[in-house]
Amino acid sequence: MKQLKSFPENFFWGAASAANQCEGAWQAEGKGVSISDVMTNGTHKEPRRITPVIDEDRYFYPSHEAVDFYHHYQEDIALCKEMGFNIFRMSVNWTRIFPNGNESEPNEAGLAFYDRVFAELKAAGIEPLVTIYHNENPFALTQECNGWADRRCIDYYLNFCRVLFERYKDVVKYWIPFNEINCLTTKLGNWNHAGILNEGTEFFTDQVDNPNLRFAALHHQFVASARAVKLGKAINPDFQFGTMICHITVYPLTCNPDDVLMTQQEDLMRNCFSGDVQVKGVYPYYIKRYFERHGIEFEITQQDLKELREGTVDFYSFSYYMSNCISSDPASAQVSGNVMGGAKNPYLTATEWDWQIDPKGLRYTLNHIYDRYGIPVMVTENGLGARDTLTADGKIHDAYRIDYLRQHIEQMRLAIDDGVELIGYTPWSTMDLVSVSTGEMEKRYGFIYVDKDNEGRGDLKRYRKDSFFWYKKVIETNGEDL
Ligand code: BG6
Repeated sequence: MKQLKSFPENFFWGAASAANQCEGAWQAEGKGVSISDVMTNGTHKEPRRITPVIDEDRYFYPSHEAVDFYHHYQEDIALCKEMGFNIFRMSVNWTRIFPNGNESEPNEAGLAFYDRVFAELKAAGIEPLVTIYHNENPFALTQECNGWADRRCIDYYLNFCRVLFERYKDVVKYWIPFNEINCLTTKLGNWNHAGILNEGTEFFTDQVDNPNLRFAALHHQFVASARAVKLGKAINPDFQFGTMICHITVYPLTCNPDDVLMTQQEDLMRNCFSGDVQVKGVYPYYIKRYFERHGIEFEITQQDLKELREGTVDFYSFSYYMSNCISSDPASAQVSGNVMGGAKNPYLTATEWDWQIDPKGLRYTLNHIYDRYGIPVMVTENGLGARDTLTADGKIHDAYRIDYLRQHIEQMRLAIDDGVELIGYTPWSTMDLVSVSTGEMEKRYGFIYVDKDNEGRGDLKRYRKDSFFWYKKVIETNGEDL
């Protein structure tokens, strides 16, 4: 048989992070309060709380210190270099640059921090891949205008983008305007993805939803993303912009046509809609009917539609952790995800947090995406949240994580062989970080172990996990030795 195609020569190998989950230093050098900073810790069973007034005597706020990347970035980047990364996905914390989001002048100390991070990456030969917005909305914008529900956020965000693009035009080429923008198709997107806090909302998982506001917010982000692309390319025509979709692949639980139709609807709404707008530059036909059927109304101007057409992205990136099944039978057993749940697939196993593990689903998804859009694709998140044990001699034997990643990389290679133009892989996560859905530290994803527990105890010391050495070898052999 003909040999399988390999990963291309210039394939991007690295890992991902997000400022609010790793930086800590939540008030350092003029930083303002972000929406992540007012979230308490939780567990798989107890939801995180959103507290508009920070009360550190009563609650623990995991983002405040996180894993202190702010003071450990040199050490962390050195470890990335040791693994052989040629790309590092990170986000810029909006409130370091604009503490309240609405100032006209940026905070120089915040910019200087990212100058240092980018210089360190450059010296290590690592390309930054920068997410502009990853759950870091300034909390002041929630107070001013209920976050992205209000059109004003578009201009505030563009002001932030202009500062980033001008300052870093020679050091950053790859940009992601919004992380998992499609989460706003579900009510869990309200807070993290748009800073919307409707009256009565107390818990992250139980947000009071107003679909008119939520879809307006999503529309504002589409317009902001398109305008960012146009603005960025005017500043540096070499900039490359990508979408970032939380892709929870869905299968019909049975071949009952009701399940099949429901699955198609779910896929279009949750997975395809946002990519369609950002890649094709138009609102797809099915969403217009969805809005009519659900009585969803918000303002879309002719100017907005023009801007959407003019600011399409260059590559498609997405997170892939799991797949779920869709069933028209309400009695089907349910599993969870951090944003969208679904029915249990009898052929798959799941993590302790009920995320179903489905490596073959990644090949299926890559083909699905490339067939739909035909532009370069990057997997910008994928990984296993698991409890790790630090042994007395400073080791972490995470064979389960290696297994998970190995199987997913195998499927990426098969997708490349199918003909998909896959250009990079940045699994979640570089180092252990605060979990978004639960606020835990012990739902670990990193190649680098960080000594910190769910209650905030630990000395933040970094350790190389077994997966660290394994991934180093994968990168060295360009994905040949798994
Ligand atoms: C993605 C987010 O949805 O999933 C990350 O972009 C997040 O920020 C990751 O950390 C894993 O989810 P969790 O809830 O386990 O942290």
